[in-house]
Amino acid sequence: MLKTSFFPCKANALGAPSGFPIKLSSTVLVKAKRPIHLKASGAKMELSITRPDDWHLHLRDGELLEAVVPHSSHHFGRAIIMPNLKPPVTTTAAAVSYRQSILKALPENSDFTPLMTLYLTDTTSPNEIKLARESGVVFAVKLYPAGATTNSQEGVTDLFGKCLPVLEEMVQQNMPLLVHGEVTDPDVDVFDREKVFIDTVLSPLIQKLPQLKVVMEHITTKDAVNFVQSCREGFVAATVTPQHLALNRNSLFKGGLQPHSYCLPVLKREIHRQAIVSAVTSGSKRFFLGTDSAPHERTKKECSCGCAGVYNSPVALSVYAKIFEEAGALDKLEAFTSFNGPDFYGLPRNTSKIKLSKTQWKVPSSFSFKFGEIVPMSAGETLDWLPLPLSP
Ligand code: DOR
Ligand code: ZN
Repeated sequence: MLKTSFFPCKANALGAPSGFPIKLSSTVLVKAKRPIHLKASGAKMELSITRPDDWHLHLRDGELLEAVVPHSSHHFGRAIIMPNLKPPVTTTAAAVSYRQSILKALPENSDFTPLMTLYLTDTTSPNEIKLARESGVVFAVKLYPAGATTNSQEGVTDLFGKCLPVLEEMVQQNMPLLVHGEVTDPDVDVFDREKVFIDTVLSPLIQKLPQLKVVMEHITTKDAVNFVQSCREGFVAATVTPQHLALNRNSLFKGGLQPHSYCLPVLKREIHRQAIVSAVTSGSKRFFLGTDSAPHERTKKECSCGCAGVYNSPVALSVYAKIFEEAGALDKLEAFTSFNGPDFYGLPRNTSKIKLSKTQWKVPSSFSFKFGEIVPMSAGETLDWLPLPLSP
C-alpha cells in the first residue's frame, strides 16, 4: 500500500518563491544489478555520489539570475557559466563582474563556484585569452556561430578566417573551446545542422589544431557520438543534457505544440537519443553532465515566436539517474555526473557527497519570480529520484 506525506523540499527555501511540496511515496525498486554505492536506508534506496558539477549552464542576470541560481547551487558544486547575456560577456573584465553578480545572488552559506567563460567574437584578441587565463576565474571560451541560437548575433561569422590566432593562443594557454555545434546556413535542414557542422567546421578544426581542447556542447545525434568517440581522448569531449537523453522530437508535438521542450540544437529522432544514452551509460570518459538549463520567462516561450531553451536545473539529477537506472548502469552515473568533467578540465573532483533517494516527487508546474514564471522540464510530472541535501 502506498503511504504518502508532504515535506518542503530544500529547493523551496533556497529558490522557488512559490511552494514546492514534494509528494513522497514508499515505492522502492531494487534492480538486479546493484552498484556498490546503492544501499537501502530504511524503506528507501539511496545512491550516494560525489557532488556533481554542471559543465554547461545559463544563469542569466538580474531577477532571473536570483530566481534560478539556488536550483543549481543546491545540487551542483561548480558550473560552467554560459556568456550569452545581453550584451555578451566578451572580455575578462566582464566575466569578473558577472561572476561577482552570481556570487551575490547565491543563497547564504552556499559554496557553489561559478566557472566563467568568454563569448568568442570575430574580434576577440589573443591578448584577451592571456588575460582570461591570468584572471584565474575564466575556464573556457564559447563559440556561438553567429545566429545559431539565443543571443548569438555577435558570435563568430568565419571561424577559420577570423579566429585562428585566438585559437592558437588558446592552445598555448590550455584553454578549452566550447562549441555550439550547428551551422546556421538556412538551406541546411534544422535537423541536419549538427552533422553538417561536424563535417565542415569541427573536423577540419581538430585536424588544424589537434592540441586544442574542444567540448562539443549538448550533443544530439549519433553522428556527434561517433565523432567524439573517434577523436583523441582528453582533447575532445561532449556534454549531454537531460532533455536529449530523455526525449525525442516527437515530444515537441505531443498533443499539440510543446514550447517548453523546444531548445537548440532541437530534439532529434529516437535513434539519435538511443545512441546518446548508450554513449553516456557505457562508462566512456568522453561524456559528462552539462544541463544546458536555459530559463526563459513563460510568456517568452508561450508566444508567436518562442525562445529556445529548456529549464531543467530543478530536475536534471532526477532525470539523469532515471536514464542510467533504465540502462542498468547506475554504477556509471557518478563518473558522468562528477568525475569525467573535472578530469577533462584538469580540475580537482569535488570531495563532498550528495544523496539521491529512490523517492517519488512531483515537479512543480512553475516557479514564480518577481517578473513572471518559469516552467521547468517535466512540469507537473512525478519523478523517481529525489536529490537530498548535501552532507557536510
Ligand atoms: O536552447 C537553447 N537555449 N540553446 C542554446 O544554445 C542557448 C540557450 C539559451 O541561452 O536560451
Ligand atoms: Zn547552452
